Amino acid sequence: MNRDPEETVSEPAWWTGAVVYQIYPRSFADSNGDGIGDLRGIISKLDHLEELGVDVVWLSPIYSSPQHDNGYDISDYQQIDPTFGTLEQFDELLEGVHQRGMKLVMDLVVNHTSSEHPWFRESSSSTDNPKRDWYWWRDAREGFEAGEKGAEPTNWGSAFSGPSWSLDPTTGQYYLHLFAPEQPDLNWENAQVRQAVYAMMNWWLDRGVDGFRMDVINFISKDPALPDGPVQPGKLWGDGSQYYISGPRIHEYLQEMHREVFDGREAELITVGEMPGVTIDEAKLFTDPTRREVDMVFQFEHVGLDYGPGGKWDYKGLDLRDLKTSWNRWQKGLAQTGWNSLYLNNHDQPRLVSRFGNDGAFRYESATLWAALLHLHRGTPYIYQGEEIGMTNAPFETVEDFRDIESINHFYEATGPLRHEPEEVLRNLRIMSRDNARTPVQWTPGVHAGFTTGTPWIGVNPNHASINAESDRASSRSVFRFYQQLIELRHKNETVRLGNFAMLAEDHPTLYAFTRTLSGSKLLVVGNVSGSDLALPDDPSLKDSSLSGSLVLGNYDGGLTPELRPWEVRVLQMT
Ligand code: GLC
Ligand code: CA
Repeated sequence: MNRDPEETVSEPAWWTGAVVYQIYPRSFADSNGDGIGDLRGIISKLDHLEELGVDVVWLSPIYSSPQHDNGYDISDYQQIDPTFGTLEQFDELLEGVHQRGMKLVMDLVVNHTSSEHPWFRESSSSTDNPKRDWYWWRDAREGFEAGEKGAEPTNWGSAFSGPSWSLDPTTGQYYLHLFAPEQPDLNWENAQVRQAVYAMMNWWLDRGVDGFRMDVINFISKDPALPDGPVQPGKLWGDGSQYYISGPRIHEYLQEMHREVFDGREAELITVGEMPGVTIDEAKLFTDPTRREVDMVFQFEHVGLDYGPGGKWDYKGLDLRDLKTSWNRWQKGLAQTGWNSLYLNNHDQPRLVSRFGNDGAFRYESATLWAALLHLHRGTPYIYQGEEIGMTNAPFETVEDFRDIESINHFYEATGPLRHEPEEVLRNLRIMSRDNARTPVQWTPGVHAGFTTGTPWIGVNPNHASINAESDRASSRSVFRFYQQLIELRHKNETVRLGNFAMLAEDHPTLYAFTRTLSGSKLLVVGNVSGSDLALPDDPSLKDSSLSGSLVLGNYDGGLTPELRPWEVRVLQMT
């Protein structure tokens, strides 16, 4: 396709005005009563998405998989797992999405495959197999016998506890897996691996999909020397991340992928790279459109601000000022070059209303406040299933209530070799576990929340009696309705889409305030991130404006009060 390069630069990409909705198929809607969500379930709920008004649907993995990590361990990239359906049903879903004017994005998990993928089966069959080099194989550490304690080739820990190396008994060598042993890392140094991935991606695009969300894509280039990493206090294994986060060839690989897969059709597509540990400077490089890598990245800074010194499982709570500082830096950092993606929830994060809001008396207010703050930054907002009806964390009691490999492995490592108190470990799991996001979507107040007629694979939150899509949509205080309005606002308001961002009152501990401006138009967003009334600071740009502007959207009825009420958010048009 021949496009005028000047035109591409001046016309903002379509996704600057888009909102993406993420579906975690296993937990979305079950059509056949086996207790697991599936493609027909998704098809049956497309009207819900169309009515919400989203532009893009992203599907977490539906490919063939032994499901050790709920599909993020893929054994065939070009088949649908029978748990979810068939390729024919996939085509039907794609058509249904397109008919409603939406786009469909697939999850692309190519840092690793499943250990049951034929590529790994071949690779592990002998040291001289032609695919041996498709994965990272190493001998035991010098001076150690394979299998001996400490014999792993490097000291790196895996993201799911334990070492990131496993011994393969057939060939006597170790293979690298940054995640579970069932998720061996592909060796992107090998050009055949890269070509095989690009061919698969082209196959999906040719089938009609509209882009990819790329799983841990900034991990694909490793320092081939694989040096040992530092061991933090209280940890069993080293941290190798400096040797694989945004590694030496990452930009080269993404540019090659762009040439081989996206060139010529990128204007219609959307690509987002999931990038734990990515810095602003790196993100700028990844998303600078002239470099032709990805459209936007998921950065992780803001979802780590409530971690204590021990990391994710050492929850300390959020100081709002840290979030303001962080988001302000990202807004400024990508203001001229690149683009932000905006999220608080996904399948790896606990529910925002429980984590950052109040999931009791002020559930409606705090859910809508966070929605407005998030969606009105500059960037592309992502909604995770259930967020649009204010779903909360789940009341997990014992370790048996969890299903997630990360949570369960952590429990046994922490209570076993690390000798932590089980109740203390559970306390952190209850607030931070990924399973909080993975309980079934609550559609109705009825049996199993209308998710399934069978036995759900993970417990349905008992609060579905009051929190569910049906009741929410019928309520005068509907979280769904608020999300609809935010999406409409982005669609019709150029200032929301492209306006400059400026943070106000950056040091205030509970006020979140900012403006968006674009050629004479100015929006002011003020939010009270607390459960008490908030007197606005004496600054005229805030105090007077918060009363005098015309209210575009808010989460309280009645007129504008001088003080902000608990979890109140106001979106005001100033000029
Ligand atoms: C990403 C996914 C997560 C998965 C991991 C390994 O972080 O979002 O769910 O467990 O990669 O694929
Ligand atoms: Ca099913």
